Amino acid sequence: MDRLAPAGRLPRSLLVLGGTSGIALAVARRLIARRTRTVWLAGRPSPALEEAAAHLRSLGAEVRTVAFDALDPASHDAALGKVFAEGPVDMALLAFGVHGDQAYDEREPLNAVRVAQTNYTGAVSAGLVVARELQNQGHGSLVVLSSVAAERARRTDFIYGSSKAGLDTFTQGLGDALYGTGVHVMVVRPGFVRSPATAGRAAEPLSSTPEEVASAVELGLRRRSENVWVPGRLRLAAGVLRHLPRALYRRLPL
Ligand SMILES: NC(=O)c1ccc[n+]([C@@H]2O[C@H](COP(=O)([O-])OP(=O)(O)OC[C@H]3O[C@@H](n4cnc5c(N)ncnc54)[C@H](OP(=O)(O)O)[C@@H]3O)[C@@H](O)[C@H]2O)c1
Repeated sequence: MDRLAPAGRLPRSLLVLGGTSGIALAVARRLIARRTRTVWLAGRPSPALEEAAAHLRSLGAEVRTVAFDALDPASHDAALGKVFAEGPVDMALLAFGVHGDQAYDEREPLNAVRVAQTNYTGAVSAGLVVARELQNQGHGSLVVLSSVAAERARRTDFIYGSSKAGLDTFTQGLGDALYGTGVHVMVVRPGFVRSPATAGRAAEPLSSTPEEVASAVELGLRRRSENVWVPGRLRLAAGVLRHLPRALYRRLPL
């Protein structure tokens, strides 16, 4: 860990979009252990969301929940505006997303659309609302969980991957749009993360844990990074894969 970068860049208040996400909760735990005192968990109302809130409260944070559905963009302004009206948000973590079932979703286009709408258009809407509010505050970080799957289409999950590619490009552009405003935008690209969400899937090389993603997010915040790969060496691997000739790439067991 780069201790030289200031801890003052870590948030005192955190908004999580996708409040039950295993990765987001690992990030929240880590930030609460450092500096974070107030947490908003935005998500679809459920016992799991309340359990997540109770868990973070037991670690000493003041935690509130707010109803948020990525698939209902018309509601984002009101739902997220309510959070910012209560006080400044130093960091927003966009963590919601669905992986879908590639084989099934290829046969059921409406399911594929649901993946795309959740991961991409839901994030465009929520991301723009959060960006506007952070800009009005004049400070804060927007941290977005993209994926290595955004880097190049894979036969096994290109519906998910294409939605993450859209999200990734959108977030990069948003970061450029907000450059110089005091608002920091960071794209986080994990490879396969071993968590309850991926319990049924075969692990991939260069995988990580939610705690490792959280550690990388902390370091990225301290350094005000714009791009974070988890693990870091995935950046090189993804770069090599991106430039392989298509005929060769297609034959890889990805
Ligand atoms: N796990 C991995 O291997 C991996 C790798 C790279 C990137 N990522 C990305 O990291 C993020 C978090 O993943 P995770 O592993 O923590 O998955 P997770 O535990 O399954 O969390 C996904 C979150 O998305 C929320 N969500 C799904 N649909 C929603 C909707 N319509 N409205 C609001 N919230 C919705 C879920 O809420 P509910 O409780 O309401 O379902 C849950 O909070 C995702 O964007 C994922 O694509 C994951």
